[in-house]
Amino acid sequence: MRKAIHITCAGIQEAMKAIEPGMGEYDVEAIVEYFFKSKGAEDAGYPSIVGGGENSCILHYETNRKKLAGGDMIVCDVGAEYHGYSADITRSFPANGNFSEEQTTIYNIVLEAQLAGIAKCKPGEYFRSPHNAAMEVIQKRLQELAIIKTPGEVAKYFFHGTSHYLGLDVHDEGTHGKLMPNSVITVEPGIYIPAGSDCDKKWWNIGIRIEDDVLITEMEPDVLSSCVPKTIEEIKALMNQESLFNLLKK
Ligand code: GLY
Ligand code: MN
Ligand code: MN
Repeated sequence: MRKAIHITCAGIQEAMKAIEPGMGEYDVEAIVEYFFKSKGAEDAGYPSIVGGGENSCILHYETNRKKLAGGDMIVCDVGAEYHGYSADITRSFPANGNFSEEQTTIYNIVLEAQLAGIAKCKPGEYFRSPHNAAMEVIQKRLQELAIIKTPGEVAKYFFHGTSHYLGLDVHDEGTHGKLMPNSVITVEPGIYIPAGSDCDKKWWNIGIRIEDDVLITEMEPDVLSSCVPKTIEEIKALMNQESLFNLLKK
């Protein structure tokens, strides 16, 4: 699993460096999957999800045909399969490398929720604990921003679970009871605000998910996918670097 995850990290990192407006969702997909194959993964664990702009708000989007515009947020949810084991990692970043004020605000809420979820990845906690912790953050913050008026409205913008078991299958079998050492689960909260949503339109077309693969241990949670940048500052710094794929365009 560590190998599958490290291959996936390498692919996402290169895509962050290479991507710019005018390239396509399919370019991100191709760059990531080039790394899968060139580093020895036999396959992708599931169809790559690369959604830009309005497509960032579509769950399980896998068409990947749109050309990316400057301010588009890209949700990149990908996982290599190595010797039968799958990774499952999501990073979200803007095509032009500049997070707008609204993208920054939503990104940092999802990150706060994800870190709260990861903190619950401990033996004895319930499988549902990371979800509850992430949900609490998102409810509170969206209410503060007046994107929702009541906590129950959060389901309009965060409409999937936070965790699943990961292993031979991307959605692997598990007890769904108390978390146990040596299990690997994902922690993947998201906020998706499609155009037409009942909130200020400055928030429209922002979709952001952050997903890591977390090993439960007797000590602190071991974030196996920490090799791919996650804070805005780290992502921006990486996106400023040259990529070997930039040469192909010239
Ligand atoms: N990539 C599928 C999932 O995150 O569950
Ligand atoms: Mn997942
Ligand atoms: Mn995923």
